[in-house]
Amino acid sequence: MVTTPGDPGCVGFPEDSSKENAMKNVKIGILGIGTVGAGVYELLEKHKKVIGKKSGIDIEIKKIADKAAERRKLLNIPASIFTPDADDVISDPDIRIVVQLIGGTTVSRELMLKAISHKKNIVTANKALLAEHGVEIFKAVVKEEVEFGYEASVGGGIPIIKTIRESLVGNQIDKVIGIVNGTTNFILTKMMREDLSFDEALKIAQELGFAEADPYLDVSGWDACHKITILSSLAFNTPVDMSKVFVEGIEGIHMKDIQYADELGFVPKLLAIAERHDNGVLVRVHPSLVSKENPLAAVSWEDNAIMLYSDFLGKSMYYGKGAGAKPTASAVVGDITDIALKITSKTEYNKNRYSFYQDLQQKDFETSRTKFYFRFSALDRPGILSKIAGILGKNNISIASVIQKETEEEFEHVPLVILTHEALEADTRRAVKEIDGLSEVEGKSIKIRVIEG
Ligand code: HSE
Repeated sequence: MVTTPGDPGCVGFPEDSSKENAMKNVKIGILGIGTVGAGVYELLEKHKKVIGKKSGIDIEIKKIADKAAERRKLLNIPASIFTPDADDVISDPDIRIVVQLIGGTTVSRELMLKAISHKKNIVTANKALLAEHGVEIFKAVVKEEVEFGYEASVGGGIPIIKTIRESLVGNQIDKVIGIVNGTTNFILTKMMREDLSFDEALKIAQELGFAEADPYLDVSGWDACHKITILSSLAFNTPVDMSKVFVEGIEGIHMKDIQYADELGFVPKLLAIAERHDNGVLVRVHPSLVSKENPLAAVSWEDNAIMLYSDFLGKSMYYGKGAGAKPTASAVVGDITDIALKITSKTEYNKNRYSFYQDLQQKDFETSRTKFYFRFSALDRPGILSKIAGILGKNNISIASVIQKETEEEFEHVPLVILTHEALEADTRRAVKEIDGLSEVEGKSIKIRVIEG
């Protein structure tokens, strides 16, 4: 065995100069050099040689297109590879992979479809675009027989797409539960650990830079919806219609419920959940109280985690940084290298990679069953609890425990916290409506879904 001092890429292998000659050059173009684009540029500058040694691929950035010329100077990008015009990238015959890092769903869609029609292989991080237009994009990808990488669209740097598609190909996946939005996870962690209000915690999350440009997408649950739409369609191999996903954000989560949940052994999380049922799939995003026993409860701050339930592997969890320039760039460069390896080897195009073999029905959220946490603000008088319990019972909701919280001040109404056994979503909606109509109950009741296990 010969080792090459100072060259860790070759340790343990005979020195072979022909290896250098075997390196395959693949030219790429980048559309959009914002936060993620800058991360990709930095990563390739830093690790290009090592990637070459590990994969045999020499990734060369031939062109970068962005309208904001000041980004070039800021990131020290040579003027020779910078252009304000995306068409310079798309129509360049030498460029084989277009790294599409433009946000939104309008211009980015047009450019992506145009690049595909020019037979460019694509890598993207744009989750909103894929969630909304995935079916159209995959059709175009298969038609033009190009490769498509979207690892960075879900879970930042966590290699979840490759894991589902390749490593778990021998499994039937039955359930996906993810904490896939770093901003909301940060906000809920901050509120719980530091007794901050929602607004205070959101402000800090924005300052730290992992919130979307429009933080509404984060707090309303839509960013998580984009991600679970992508994940569930891959996990269940079926088109998933984003408009049929139930979405509830964290705006309505009160400090009081976080404190009560903590006492009861739960942690608040915004969960994105997709389940396979006998007759379809059910996909939803909502705040949940997660039992402290569940590993997802330990996923704090801006971290992401995805738990998969599959028939042969069983339960598995994938954890890491779900946002930010560096983790996202890590996923993008993984995809670039993967695609470069495919297109430089003599393998036949595999359209199964980008097609769905079934079209499962998407079930109505009203049919979903889970445990619930309710908080009612009720008059502290004899008979009120039995009235509320009666309405729950009439609607098939079985109570697991009841706690009347004492308040420090003398209020007429007191918080009544009820945990239930599993109940049907539609039943709880009806029950809460009736309870909220009682003259002894003040304001709108709080209902949070509970996840144990
Ligand atoms: N705003 C997203 C998040 C960024 O907070 O997770 C990555 O998609």
